[in-house]
Formats: sequence, structure tokens, C-alpha cells
Amino acid sequence: MLVIPTLIFYLVLHLTSVSLPIFTAAAPHPSASLPHRTLAGISIIDTPIVRAAQAYAQLHCSPGTYNHVMRTWLSGVYHLSHNSTLASQVDLEVHALGLILHDLATHHDLNAEFVSRYRRFEVDSAVAAANFLRSYLQSHPEEKEADVFAIYWGNELEFSWGRPGGEKMGVTDEEYARVVKEFSREVGGGEGGGILEFVAWYCRFKPESTYRDTWMQPFGEMLVPGYSAVGHRLLDLNLAAAGVNVSKYLDRL
Ligand SMILES: *[C@@H]1O[C@H](CO)[C@@H](O)[C@H](O)[C@H]1NC(C)=O
Ligand SMILES: *[C@@H]1O[C@H](CO)[C@@H](O)[C@H](O)[C@H]1NC(C)=O
Repeated sequence: MLVIPTLIFYLVLHLTSVSLPIFTAAAPHPSASLPHRTLAGISIIDTPIVRAAQAYAQLHCSPGTYNHVMRTWLSGVYHLSHNSTLASQVDLEVHALGLILHDLATHHDLNAEFVSRYRRFEVDSAVAAANFLRSYLQSHPEEKEADVFAIYWGNELEFSWGRPGGEKMGVTDEEYARVVKEFSREVGGGEGGGILEFVAWYCRFKPESTYRDTWMQPFGEMLVPGYSAVGHRLLDLNLAAAGVNVSKYLDRL
């Protein structure tokens, strides 16, 4: 099982939205025969490392964030139940670990464990997850594209549900309702309370991690007085690298 490279792939996917090629395979994935249990109406993998990851997430995440990661995992498993091609390719342990551990560094506290001053929270979370997993696993240089695809969608479904026309990947409203019933969206203690407060905190207190045209940058411009990415956007960096002095041109345009 190759979790750490998978997390790095996942991270790259998360940050760049690049879609990766998927291998085709027919046989059921071997991880399907590992121990399972039922939660929120669906059979989920239940191995020692998956349990340990759940306990770790519960210990280190706020209750709201813990419920969020559990929802992404369970709705991700529902997604797999609607796509047997994908299910045959996905290592259910990697899938579970990737989703359960994807938000370890979301505390709004610069002194909190895992929270760096300058790195994006996604990177901080991936580093924390990799460190946790390293103590359990030895890695092998092997790629896991299908796992990455499935992990990506498990997380994306969480956001699709609140969005008109959001992709549901075959998961029904009834199935998703079971997930939310088990891991409520209403639980207090989610960092920032809502998505706007969640993002504004990074723009205010870790602005360097939001520059370079990240998805957070426009939120900073919209929400945080005095926030400006000017000088730090990809455009600025590219022009500087090309030796272009924009001020010289502004008068002429
Ligand atoms: C099923 O998963 C495969 C990846 O294995 C993907 O290419 C395909 O689009 C998915 N099918 C549906 C109907 O979502
Ligand atoms: C860029 O051009 C402006 C206006 O011509 C000038 O004042 C400034 O010193 C230049 N900056 C650099 C780094 O050359």
C-alpha cells in the first residue's frame, strides 16, 4: 500500500485541479476482502490503520471538521458503490486514509500543531498526514491514479451538494442524507463556522499562503480590508522573471 505518494498526488490534484489518466481494470480490488463494518447505511473498510486514522482525526480536528472529513469518506464510498470500474481500481484503505486525514491542519491558530506560518493549509495537512502514516507504513514507488481520482471525488462531493448543478457521481440524495444524519453539518466547532470565515482567516493571518492565484486569493480581495496580492500573483512573478517593469508601461496604455 502506497499512501504517502498517493497523498502527494492528491495534494497536487487539490491544488491544480489537473485530472489524471485512469487505468482500466476488471477484477475487484483486493482491499474489498479486508474487514468492513456498516456506517450510515454503507459498508466501509474497518482495519487497524483506518481506525487509527479516525481516532487521530477526531483527536486533532474540531468536531465540525471531523464531521466534514467523515462525510467526505462516506459519500466517497457511496460514489464508489455507483461506479464498479472505479471501485475495482481503488484501494479502500488508501481512499479512507486520504479522506479522513485531509484536513488535519485546519485549526485557526498559528501556534496549533501542524499549522505553519507560510504553507497552505492543504500542504500542512498533507505533511501531518504523511508523518502520521510514516509511523505505520513503508512506502513503495508506485502510482495510484484511481485512488487519487476517488479521493478527489469523495472530497468534491461535499461541496457539490451545496451547489446548483454540482456533480453527484451517482450518489443519491437519500444516500447523502444518511451520511449527513450520521455526521451532521450542524455540529459546532468547525473552524470559522462557515466557508467565508474559514477562508478569511487564512487571508488575514497567513496571507502568503493565499497568494499566487490560489482559490483563496479572490476571497481575500472580497472579504479582508487591506488584503492585496498585487506583487505576488503569478502574473507579477512571471513579468518580474521576464524583466518587465509594468510601471513603465502604465503611462502609455
Ligand atoms: C467511473 O470511473 C472511471 C474511472 O475509473 C471514470 O473514468 C468514469 O467516468 C466513471 N464513470 C461514471 C459514470 O462516473
Ligand atoms: C520601473 O519603472 C518606474 C517608472 O519608469 C521606475 O520609477 C522604477 O524605478 C522602475 N523599477 C525598477 C525596478 O526598475
